Amino acid sequence: MTQLNVGVVGLGAIGQKHCEVLAQIREAKLLAVADTNAELLNKTAGKFGALPFADYEQMLQTPGLDAVVVATPDHLHRDFAIKAAQAGKHILVEKPIATTEEDALAIIAAADAAGVKLMVGFTLRFIPHYIQARSAVASGKLGTLISIFSRRLNVITQAERIGGRCGVLHFLGIHDFDMLRWMVGSEPVSIYSEASTSIPRKFPQENEAFTIIHFENGVVACAHIGWNLPKLHPAGRDFKLDISGDKGSLNMDLERQGLEIFTETESKFPSTAPGLIEEDRAFVDCVLDDKPVPVSGHDGLVALNMVSAALKSIETGLPVKL
Ligand SMILES: NC(=O)c1ccc[n+]([C@@H]2O[C@H](COP(=O)([O-])OP(=O)(O)OC[C@H]3O[C@@H](n4cnc5c(N)ncnc54)[C@H](O)[C@@H]3O)[C@@H](O)[C@H]2O)c1
Repeated sequence: MTQLNVGVVGLGAIGQKHCEVLAQIREAKLLAVADTNAELLNKTAGKFGALPFADYEQMLQTPGLDAVVVATPDHLHRDFAIKAAQAGKHILVEKPIATTEEDALAIIAAADAAGVKLMVGFTLRFIPHYIQARSAVASGKLGTLISIFSRRLNVITQAERIGGRCGVLHFLGIHDFDMLRWMVGSEPVSIYSEASTSIPRKFPQENEAFTIIHFENGVVACAHIGWNLPKLHPAGRDFKLDISGDKGSLNMDLERQGLEIFTETESKFPSTAPGLIEEDRAFVDCVLDDKPVPVSGHDGLVALNMVSAALKSIETGLPVKL
């Protein structure tokens, strides 16, 4: 096989981006798309020349379909990923892998039983800045790691768009929890989290939290996660990473990304380091070359368990052991 025929289910915010990047990857063909929103489905299918399916299970029967990107809301990941595995399709499932540990384990078991690849969409692992930071850590030039601080803040419109479907730790924090585990190269042993309560909650879940993670090797990390930046924030994001070692330190700032555009109607700091195309390329390559995926179902499960522990800690006010 030299080209992978891919279907994307869920054509919302991130599903559109998967379609766009898959269309740019020479070794991939966006064969089919599925969504229950007929207008979105037909518009997307027309734009990318893909076969449209209102019914996901019918998409799975498309002749020649090799793989599926599951980009639906979180609660549908279990059913859609398992159906893909049972149909013999390789799976790239968006984060979080699922909403419960039980569902994540069921997806992993279904992929194992079917002998298909299962990868989880942790995009930070494919952004050049994070890759360089990890190389610096792995090279030993920072010495022994002591601590890491990670910040991921989005604009308030993101919270309004998600509308209480999940809290900010499932939506954004899970990226950092996975990235910190990957960066530190050690397993989390305990998690303590506190959510801000200074403003009335619009939605039932946490909106902004500090989470302290202790890793097996003694490193302590702090993740500051939220989606309360003002609508007019020029970058729409505040992403930071600060690493301290006993021989060096590293600081990353992905807010102002080196490109600033000012016009009569707007001020923008566009993203210059998109990771999604590299994530999808890695998935396509691993299937075509029959290599292990860089982010496994197990990685998805551990990150999900870290979010669950943080939420339990917010609820109880106590650290949670993993
Ligand atoms: N990796 C990232 O950076 C990133 C960014 C955003 C979202 N995500 C993840 O991607 C997933 C989707 O998030 P989103 O923000 O794109 O959501 P969204 O609401 O924008 O899009 C979801 C789409 O799924 C469709 N859908 C719902 N039920 C369906 C069904 N039964 N069959 C087919 N289609 C159905 C909806 O019509 C909608 O178009 C979530 O799991 C989210 O956590 C990841």
